[in-house]
Amino acid sequence: MAKNKLAHFAELKVFKHVFEPSINIAKEGSSPLQGSWHSFFGNKNPITLELGCGKGEYTVGMGQMYSNRNFIGVDIKGARIWRGAKTVEEEGINNAAFLRTRIEFISSFFGNDEVDELWLTFSDPQLKDKREKHRLSHPRFLDIYRNFVRPGGWIHMKTDSRFLADYTLEVLEEEGIVADLITHDLYGEDWDKLSDDDKKHMGLKTFYEQKFLDIGVHINYIRFQLYESKQ
Ligand SMILES: C[S@@+](CC[C@H](N)C(=O)[O-])C[C@H]1O[C@@H](n2cnc3c(N)ncnc32)[C@H](O)[C@@H]1O
Repeated sequence: MAKNKLAHFAELKVFKHVFEPSINIAKEGSSPLQGSWHSFFGNKNPITLELGCGKGEYTVGMGQMYSNRNFIGVDIKGARIWRGAKTVEEEGINNAAFLRTRIEFISSFFGNDEVDELWLTFSDPQLKDKREKHRLSHPRFLDIYRNFVRPGGWIHMKTDSRFLADYTLEVLEEEGIVADLITHDLYGEDWDKLSDDDKKHMGLKTFYEQKFLDIGVHINYIRFQLYESKQ
């Protein structure tokens, strides 16, 4: 393993705003972190989770933009999380944290209604049929999110993948969920339909988003609220 990577992993262990629970705890279905996030942040401000945050550009950027909210980036890759976590440390950002775990086990770490909103930023589209249940908008994930996102909490999906966007819209239709906003070209003519507040944070670009924009790929954005499961 590269020397830098080892140093970064060692640093992750000492950052107070990075949590790296063991896989055994993740699989248990509950952990001491459940219900603890507001006391960690020292306030009762709403919590936004970014799932598959990579280097954390969104989590960090939103934290800088909205001091009256808290942000947690979740990813399994420590080397990526380190980038965002280092910025949080260096810039003394006190409303952003990172959780290193598999998203499949995310409800072990959050209590009922503890989370106000979710961002899915450039999630892997999982193109093969046999990988369908790994798509982060698969019904099984929506049910996982219902365990900790407050009823009516917003779910935001930004993706370069028209395939994943269309799949997500199909799932929403099956679940009887009507999306509040759908665009297949966020920065095209739909941009002007956004409110000023939406434009403020939607203009933040993640690492993958910038890569796709640089090669002319259109960005899909879908916003919806989680209702009760139909079962
Ligand atoms: C395509 S990258 C996008 C990263 C970032 N959101 C961006 O836009 O730059 C997808 C990220 O999701 C993470 N990821 C994929 N599946 C995951 C899972 N099951 N649990 C945790 N992280 C996952 C990967 O490690 C990767 O960092």
